[in-house]
Amino acid sequence: MRSKISILSIFLIFASILFIACGGQGGTPTASTGGTSQSPSPSPAASAQPTQPANQGSSAGENKLEIFSWWTNPGEADGLKALFEIFKKRRPGVEVINATVAGGAGTNAKAVLVTRMRGGDPPDSFQVHAGQELIGTWVVAGKMEPITDLFKQEGWDKVMPKTLLDQITYKGEIYSVPVNVHRSNMLWYNIEIFKKNNLQPPKTIDDFFKVAEKLKAKGITPLSVGGKDKFEVPHLFESVLLATFGPEDYPKLFKDPSMWENDPRLDKAIDTLNKMLDYANEDRASLSWADAAQRVIDGEAAMTIMGDWAEGYFINKGAKPNKDFGWAPAPGTSGSFLWLSDSFGLPKGAPHRENAIEWLKVCGSKEGQDAFNPKKGSIPARTDADKSKYDVYLRWSIDEFKRDKLVPSIVHGAAANEAYMTDYDNALNLFSANRDKEELKGMLLDAASELQSQ
Ligand code: GAL
Repeated sequence: MRSKISILSIFLIFASILFIACGGQGGTPTASTGGTSQSPSPSPAASAQPTQPANQGSSAGENKLEIFSWWTNPGEADGLKALFEIFKKRRPGVEVINATVAGGAGTNAKAVLVTRMRGGDPPDSFQVHAGQELIGTWVVAGKMEPITDLFKQEGWDKVMPKTLLDQITYKGEIYSVPVNVHRSNMLWYNIEIFKKNNLQPPKTIDDFFKVAEKLKAKGITPLSVGGKDKFEVPHLFESVLLATFGPEDYPKLFKDPSMWENDPRLDKAIDTLNKMLDYANEDRASLSWADAAQRVIDGEAAMTIMGDWAEGYFINKGAKPNKDFGWAPAPGTSGSFLWLSDSFGLPKGAPHRENAIEWLKVCGSKEGQDAFNPKKGSIPARTDADKSKYDVYLRWSIDEFKRDKLVPSIVHGAAANEAYMTDYDNALNLFSANRDKEELKGMLLDAASELQSQ
């Protein structure tokens, strides 16, 4: 195998140069951010041996690291850059290739990744949600290397919560390094609008409609909703499902498909979403989550319900927590933390495997997490973070994560398999356009059949 690869290597080097010169992977927008030094000089941390023999892969001679993600927006892109900077200090001679595919929640990126992985062209490491997205999509298919030894060697098993470890473990082996924990069920609001109108952030769904009615009467768009990236309305609905079914029953929806049948709470949740959209902007199909968030800090809309990557976005834009924007759990979900976690793993055949392992070490390190998360708007996956590096929202969120009931996100890969997520997303996106409640219900019931395979 190795000698065969060696014979091919000269061709592949030329092919790679041509490929990168043409802009990256299969038409994917790919940007290089990185080191130009020709001579690698590994830091002491990098000298720790990988857990498995190094793959003398086709481009092992090229000193690169290709990281695949969908972090292109303000906030998330800043966090990624902070990780790259640490990596570059540890491996100054390595060129970092920032292979991003734009589109919130990875709607576009995931499709490109599937094509690359199927074509035997994996990046060195890629963003993947802990939970079903990692296990169901990649691990069960045999596409990932276990990294249990590395995990233990770095002591990450001692500093990450068990809930999270369970989501990255399959048949006793660990498969990715969680870099953060995000919260999906968050409401963000414009403080000035709320103050001027003498309003409090809504605690319950009923409160939400009272507040929304007052805002609408004043000519202010109550709720800013995106739709361009095809995950925004599905995202809103997971908070509504949680509010309607409660933290005990919401997780059962993904374990027992019969939960979806004959339960009047499903009709109630659909009604709530429908009514919420009555208070939302109509141009959502052309707005990304970031555009929708921007309207809140611009004072063009009062609220948005979005994961706390919106916090990273606000901070990047110079908005200040508790001054320009406020936050509260999405209406009716106080006490529940609808969580998701971004992680990075080691695909089999990673072209620069040793660099990928160093990358994973950065992702799992305290230094990496404390540099990444304050910019990303997420809390660290590690429990020993330096809290002084986090702003007032994130410190609050770190505490909430410890005391709240933890429930998994559907849209961001934690709760359900990819096939279910696709059907669920399609149902909600269609509803956003046609507002047909019966059709939505039918599609959600059909989607539930995908849960059988979990
Ligand atoms: C989520 C992801 C976040 C953020 C968000 C918006 O799926 O976990 O890190 O990137 O999408 O794109």
